[in-house]
Amino acid sequence: MIMKINNKNNPVIIEPSHGLSGSIDTPSDKSISHRALILGSLCLGETKIHNLLTSEDISSTICALVQFGANINISEEQNITKIYGIGIGGLLQPSKKIYLGNSGTSARLLIGLMSSCDVCVEFEGDPSLSKRPMDRVLNPLKKIGLEIVSNKQEHLPLNLKGAVFPVPINHKLVVPSAQIKSALMLAALNIKGRSTIIETIKTRDHSEKLFEYFGADIQIRMNDMGHKEIMINGQKRLSPRELDIPGDPSSAAFFIVAALISKGSKLRIKNVMINPTRSLFIDYLISMGAKIDFLDKYSKCGEEVSDIDVTASDLKGVTTSLNDAPAIIDEFLILSVAAAYAKGESKFCGVSELKVKESDRLEAIINMLTASGVKCETKDDDLIIYGNGEVPGGSTINSNYDHRVAMSAFILGLGSKSQIRIDDVSPIATSFPNFMEIYQEIGGNFHSG
Ligand code: S3P
Repeated sequence: MIMKINNKNNPVIIEPSHGLSGSIDTPSDKSISHRALILGSLCLGETKIHNLLTSEDISSTICALVQFGANINISEEQNITKIYGIGIGGLLQPSKKIYLGNSGTSARLLIGLMSSCDVCVEFEGDPSLSKRPMDRVLNPLKKIGLEIVSNKQEHLPLNLKGAVFPVPINHKLVVPSAQIKSALMLAALNIKGRSTIIETIKTRDHSEKLFEYFGADIQIRMNDMGHKEIMINGQKRLSPRELDIPGDPSSAAFFIVAALISKGSKLRIKNVMINPTRSLFIDYLISMGAKIDFLDKYSKCGEEVSDIDVTASDLKGVTTSLNDAPAIIDEFLILSVAAAYAKGESKFCGVSELKVKESDRLEAIINMLTASGVKCETKDDDLIIYGNGEVPGGSTINSNYDHRVAMSAFILGLGSKSQIRIDDVSPIATSFPNFMEIYQEIGGNFHSG
């Protein structure tokens, strides 16, 4: 399946709206979708995925895996994806460059995957991905034998040669990043012997769960220092599986905050994964005064999922802790919108990683809020937002190839006194293609402009 990559600028003007209502479904989780595709491609036999996320980032991973030899069939009406994989270490030599669009997760995970296989790969990305640091994943992978053939050592485009005889790794993560952890774990799958990855600050744990689910030889324990040690014995067969992808809390976050800040709202959001390494932003919202009720909880793909009811609430400021930053890294943008509508000071600690996301999100937050009349500043590694319960608006927000900047601006404009304009909403397709349809369905207003 090749999805259309939209290169045209698509500006919109958001009109203030009052009171959202209805019941909406959450799109499938992007992190789990990438991982399920990759692990399914490493099995011999049929893996069946229900409700794979349909988005540009996921298409990038699919196209790359097809180039590595996986057979991936998607039946769009039922949303069932069948994969016939190539086995651990069975990657074929791609015949052309692999283009990964905007997807940092595809880049980091696939570099990890190919690093321990006998293939040469040229990876390319869009202008945003081509600025993002890759040395954080390349440096540890060099220790197992990955070679960087291109002159560039830090950014895409990269020309890489995987190790013919990869050496087991023993690596303590320097940057708390699920993408780096997962890249090393994927590399370890094709390394004979035991590799150990040590995580000192918690990041999302989908790779660990899915490795177990697909039958990888993996052990996890907490060491004497209280750090997580992940040990993988490589070159062991994986078992093909059937799995159903739960809803992405990072996508649900936009409509959760939308309902909270738009007076008179009452919204049901279904199928929200509440894995604690992902849903911490909900706890922070509740501590800000958010009225969020969890309905029936159930399990999907080994993850806890819940439908939730969100009611418009008077919010107050909040302080997020340094060690929680990796678990809410994708939600800082939308939390900054909640903080702008809250009364009082909010302080987000340890936010420097935001500078190397799909755009410099720290700068994006400062620009978006300042232009919309909300006072905020950075102090050392922290971001401080001085909310006074309302947002003047009257700004134009530059989405800068970043889906989450565009969606956050939509929500900011929902309750602002004057219109907010977004210069280009096309990046939204990387993670949440029907975001604008849902926005209108529940009572949000916008028009092109
Ligand atoms: C992701 C991990 C996070 C997150 C990204 C998806 C993943 O990045 O920002 O959107 O799927 O592993 P890091 O944990 O690498 O910061």
